[in-house]
Amino acid sequence: MTIAIYGANGHTGRLVAAELLARDQDIVLAGRDADALHALAGELDSPRVRVHRAALDDPDALRELTAGSEVLIHCAGPFTRTCEPLALAAVAGRCHYIDHAIEPKPVKWLFETMQGPAGEAGVVMIPQLSFYGGLADLLAAAAAAGLPAVDRVTVGYSITGWRMTPAAVKTAELLIGEIDRVTYTGGALRVGPVDIRNTVYPFPPPVGPRSMIAPFPSGEMVTIPRHVPARTVESQLTASTFEEEQIFTSQDAAPEERARTAFMVAVQVVAEGGGGRTAHLRGGDIWWVGALASADAAVRLLRGEGPGKAGVLATAEAFEAEPFLRRMAALGAFELTL
Ligand SMILES: NC(=O)c1ccc[n+]([C@@H]2O[C@H](COP(=O)([O-])OP(=O)(O)OC[C@H]3O[C@@H](n4cnc5c(N)ncnc54)[C@H](OP(=O)(O)O)[C@@H]3O)[C@@H](O)[C@H]2O)c1
Repeated sequence: MTIAIYGANGHTGRLVAAELLARDQDIVLAGRDADALHALAGELDSPRVRVHRAALDDPDALRELTAGSEVLIHCAGPFTRTCEPLALAAVAGRCHYIDHAIEPKPVKWLFETMQGPAGEAGVVMIPQLSFYGGLADLLAAAAAAGLPAVDRVTVGYSITGWRMTPAAVKTAELLIGEIDRVTYTGGALRVGPVDIRNTVYPFPPPVGPRSMIAPFPSGEMVTIPRHVPARTVESQLTASTFEEEQIFTSQDAAPEERARTAFMVAVQVVAEGGGGRTAHLRGGDIWWVGALASADAAVRLLRGEGPGKAGVLATAEAFEAEPFLRRMAALGAFELTL
């Protein structure tokens, strides 16, 4: 039983590999650069590790990877460019699929295009089971549980110390320059020009109310409405995050420096007619938390502890939200307040 990691030699892929090996899991390090993959295998120095080279434009090599694996964790971005070949290969090889996308468009594409093929192949595909996306999806599900009608869900990210990797910078360039953006308003997903504004999000102490950039283009506006009956879903990011000088210039930063982030992810679920619920989580290394979430979920899929149905699923459709969050909190990922 093997888990493949595509983009294994990147920062996220390495963290995922470490988490899987810590769980005595057999893994395949996959990507386009054979030398980098073999170098990583040498560092990991474990009989549980194999290497498989497969470029994005080589469907046969990608299919060979997925046919020989039970779960694929896709860590190579920007996903706007990399999602499609890996998703097609996962279905062709009948291999479950988890990815670390942040961008809404590939998440939307997966739900719209791969639902039928995933169901026919009997595989589970979970986009953005990572720090951005998956955690907010789970928090929204946990906070909204039992509410019959929801007017809106607002997700607030407070992030300091974000030192972007090369792929994260490329992803940010794509997203910041995007004119037609995905939004979820009036009960529908829309794609079109959006006015970007400043607003204030009421984070609980010790963060407190903060100036925000809104909307922040993370794909949970695609996933949350699948299981929370909301009319509007919007994500926002602290404006100070992008004001830090090193955010875009730390592509060569050491892993220890990257680990020095601090985060709070909060959701406000407003019920129709007023009232509602809030929930939040707070912790340190955003990269490790995302890697941990994907690795833990992949092992559970492998052990048959998944959703019991095939198809493209939001994180909170694949796993029960509150137990998943409590398990992550117990593993030291964050402090959780539900
Ligand atoms: N949603 C979230 O919270 C979250 C969390 C973490 C990461 N991410 C996303 O995950 C992606 C990876 O992040 P990272 O931090 O690991 O970046 P990174 O350290 O720059 O590594 C990127 C990896 O992707 C591979 N890659 C990039 N373009 C490729 C292509 N065209 N074909 C094949 N492989 C390709 C790279 O391979 P080479 O070495 O051969 O270039 C490398 O292995 C980014 O898009 C980032 O936005 C999202």
